[in-house]
Amino acid sequence: MRHLLSITDLSVDEIDALLETASDIEANPDKYAHVMEGKKLATLFFEPSTRTRLSFEAAMYELGGHVIGFAGASNSSAAKGESVKDTVRTVGCYADIIAMRHPLEGAPWAAVQAATTPVINAGDGGHHHPTQTLADLMTLKKEKGRLDHLKVGLCGDLRFGRTVHSLIGALSRYPGNEFVLISPRELRVPGHIVADLIEAGIPYKEAESLEDAIGDLDALYMTRIQQERFFSPEEYLRLKDSYILDEEKMRLAPADMIVMHPLPRVNEIDVKVDSDPRACYFKQVMYGKIMRKALIMKLMAETELPPKPSRVFITTGKQCKNPRCISSTEQGLEPLFYPVHQVMRHGELVRIPTKYVCAYCDMEQV
Ligand code: CP
Repeated sequence: MRHLLSITDLSVDEIDALLETASDIEANPDKYAHVMEGKKLATLFFEPSTRTRLSFEAAMYELGGHVIGFAGASNSSAAKGESVKDTVRTVGCYADIIAMRHPLEGAPWAAVQAATTPVINAGDGGHHHPTQTLADLMTLKKEKGRLDHLKVGLCGDLRFGRTVHSLIGALSRYPGNEFVLISPRELRVPGHIVADLIEAGIPYKEAESLEDAIGDLDALYMTRIQQERFFSPEEYLRLKDSYILDEEKMRLAPADMIVMHPLPRVNEIDVKVDSDPRACYFKQVMYGKIMRKALIMKLMAETELPPKPSRVFITTGKQCKNPRCISSTEQGLEPLFYPVHQVMRHGELVRIPTKYVCAYCDMEQV
């Protein structure tokens, strides 16, 4: 069966087809009102959510299906120590498709080892959030008319920002796109993502000043500085107000630049910006529900297909060094790694040939 763990599990042609389906769903919702009759979606949310969980549930109801699930690990047997694999294996006895969110990076990759239904990653720690990316792509397509030849600024917490990681993974595969990565030094995008950009020859620039970057963008993707991802409360307090997009900064932006944000917002976009016609973040919310409808239909139609081949993994006899990796807690989960190539970033090595990257959380082992 097909799962969606990372946005790169979908080819560009498949993403384009999902966008076409979504446009048809938007124009003709009644046509799709019964396509999931008799089917159940399970939403397994081990971490808080408003948009992702409720949009998945609304999507399934609007397709004529049913929903079961839990919102919060404390409402499930995870609170008694049940593993992710046992939870997913159990839920496969009740539901036809699973959307799961988990605070540990790589949890959905562990889940699919025991899954008997398609699994959708609805966000795993600071790692990936592919269905937010589907919402973001529909927003760009609708508001900018294209997914190629865009200059996209990504601003805020690029280190732990899972929506940023997935969006870069998607837009990197459309021609002519370039990225301006705006963050404090401490929250720069992880090395493995920069290494992928370098290897693919995709133009990118790392910057610290939003004011300097904003005048030359097609889209600005703001993100929250995420308190829950910090190891040190002092560092969060020091960095939490790094970027605040307000009316003054919007005056520096092009007239046709759009502002995106996966939400929730704290204070990084002043509420006065909401009435600017360039503010698109609540449109993203609506597009998210439509794209999730298209995705549920696609995965449910492909339950008989063999999984796509993945890269070759190896064991090293060691554990992953990321304390937030699912392999640090999940029983019976073999630590797996893939080798990386040498890549330079600003004159520093970001990939070393003899080192390995965790197959679950993508952290380089140093
Ligand atoms: N964008 C997003 O993932 O929002 P929630 O955390 O509310 O689901």
